[in-house]
This record gives sequence, structure tokens and C-alpha cells, in this order.
Amino acid sequence: RKEGYDHYMLKEIHEQPHALERTLQGRLDAEAGTPTLDFPPGAFADAERVHLVGCGTSNYAAEYGATLLRRWGVEAQALLASEYTGAAPRVDGDTLVVAVTQSGETADTLSALRFAAERGARTLAVTNVVGSTAARECDDAMFIRAGPEIGVAASKTFSSQVASLVLLAATLVRDGEGAPGEEVRDTLRALADLPDQVATVLDGTTARSVAERYAGRESYFFIGRGLAYPVAMEGALKFKEISYEHAEGFPAGELKHGPLALVTEHTPVIAVFAGRHDEKTLNNVQEVQARGAPVIAVAGERADAVRRQADETLAVPDTHPNLAGLLANVQLQLVAYHVSKLLDRAIDKPRNLAKSVTVE
Ligand code: F6R
Repeated sequence: RKEGYDHYMLKEIHEQPHALERTLQGRLDAEAGTPTLDFPPGAFADAERVHLVGCGTSNYAAEYGATLLRRWGVEAQALLASEYTGAAPRVDGDTLVVAVTQSGETADTLSALRFAAERGARTLAVTNVVGSTAARECDDAMFIRAGPEIGVAASKTFSSQVASLVLLAATLVRDGEGAPGEEVRDTLRALADLPDQVATVLDGTTARSVAERYAGRESYFFIGRGLAYPVAMEGALKFKEISYEHAEGFPAGELKHGPLALVTEHTPVIAVFAGRHDEKTLNNVQEVQARGAPVIAVAGERADAVRRQADETLAVPDTHPNLAGLLANVQLQLVAYHVSKLLDRAIDKPRNLAKSVTVE
């Protein structure tokens, strides 16, 4: 049931505050800024390195988690499940392999898992589906509790995956060598406010008018750095999937190494700011504006320099820079949704795509 929404995807976008509340329920001591997942202290003490494997949107959630883990001093890498065996990663009994998969049934992810398990790795599924193959085959499972997602394009499951990975990252830091620093605690304290902040984004968004202004252009580029980079990639994937318009995501600094050749006044650039590395991303914004491209920034309310430079700004409430990308992503979901609606696309069931991909 769409409960008054035109599409399941829009309903699921609006379910995110509630989905995130469920994801976090009982798993976080907000005052202390510590995770309270069901893993006893020391549960991950043997993990010397972490591989996060997944496909598509789940790969971008994995990339977010891996970047955060590295910031917090844990050796971690996100690897595309479909390339995992070919990439010949070092995987053994000291490796924790985290399968990020909302369905728990993606064939590429399951074969990466099996490859890792054969080499003695410990495996953990981060999934939305209790009883899924990934949940059953892994040594451990952490359920993201986003609730059923009907729209083929992942929306609330991405947010709940990232929130779950933030909790997991803090748990791995707890079990690692150094004591968790203030940054970890501050991030977890801020995480508790995320559901309400997502609701604020949903209430105040101007994504629809941005969509009206820019729908039907030649191409769309999405850029970001650090934790905003996987969010830009996810924004571009969502956009192309449901609008059928050409969209690409890039690390902001890479534009000038080639893709800039494609930038013209017909190619809007959506720049994601997460409150860290913003000055460098602003340089990249100026580079594309000099080629005539309009820039739509997604940034925190207090990012005045960004607002002054960009042609449009979609604002999000201020939060810890480690979480700002999650709020920005909600704006990107809405831009993709409204452009697709204006173009009259089959938003809940885009052509050629399936909700879970069970062939390699
Ligand atoms: C994009 C999307 C896909 C999935 C990918 C992995 O909106 O939904 O890219 O993220 O097929 O699916 P799961 O997470 O079920 O393994």
C-alpha cells in the first residue's frame, strides 16, 4: 500500500526517520557515545583487517563504512563483490569480511562471501532480510531493520545500512588496540539525532523546485570528497536508475583529470559537502562554473561560503561531518525522484532492473 504517496519510493524515502529509529533502537548509548550492539567486548579483537563487500548501492554504503573505519584507525577496504575474487585480496583467518546486502541474496555478494569463508575469514552479514542466504551463511548477522522496501531502487535501506555500519565501526574500534577517541563518541552522540534531522530535511526540502529547473539536461555530474564521495556516487546511481538520464559520480578532485572535458552549460553539477574538505570541493565548483555549468550544492545550514558560490543550495541540518553525507543523500534521493516524476518514468520498477540480482 502506498498510503497516499504516488510511488513506493517516495513513501520509503519518507519512512527513513522511522526506519533509522528502528536501526538504532537499543544499539547505542547516546549519552556516553558508545555502541551497544549485541557483540560482547572483544568480539572482534582478532580482526586485523576488514573487507566490506557489496554491489551497487550497497557497495557505496560499504565505501562509506570503510572510509570511516580507516579514519578511526582500522585497516579497512570496500571491495566490489563482483570483482572480489579477481582482485586477489589477502583474505585469511585474521580478516573480517562484512557482506553489505539489503536482500541478502545478491549472487555476486554470496560468491565473494563463500570465497572468503573458504580461506578462513570470519564473515558478518549486514542485511535487511532475516533468514536470507547471507544471514544464514555468515558467522554473524546484523539486521538493519529498515522494514520492507518495495521500490526497486534502494532508498531507506541505504540509510539504514550506513547507520548500521557506523555502529559496527565504533564496535570494531572498541575491540581494537587504541581506545575510541572523542571523534568516535561525538559521532555516536550525533547519530542519535539523525532520525529527527532526516525528518527536518523531508519537511523543508526544495528538491522539487530544483528538479523543475534542471530536468531534461544533457548529463548530470555528482561530486564529493571523503565521506561525501560515496554519497555522490550513490546520488548518481539513483539518478540514472530511475530517471534514465545520463549521470556520473566522481571524486571531486578527479574531475579535472578528464571528465571536465564533458562539462558545459548543459551539464548541471551536484556537489555534496560534508563539512570536511569543503574548500577543495569549492575549488572544483569554481572550475565547473567557469565552463558554464550550473552548480547545485548540498551542504550544511552554516556553510555560508558554499551557499555564496553555488547556483542553488539544498540545505541539511548541521551534524557531525561523519554523518552529514547521510542527510545530503536524502536530498539527492528527492532530486532523483522529482526529476524522474517530471519525466514520467516507471519510478518503482525501472526498466531492465530487478530488486535482487541472483545471477553473477
Ligand atoms: C540500486 C540498487 C542496487 C543494489 C544492488 C545490491 O538502487 O538497489 O544497486 O544495491 O543490486 O543489492 P543488495 O543490497 O540486495 O545486495
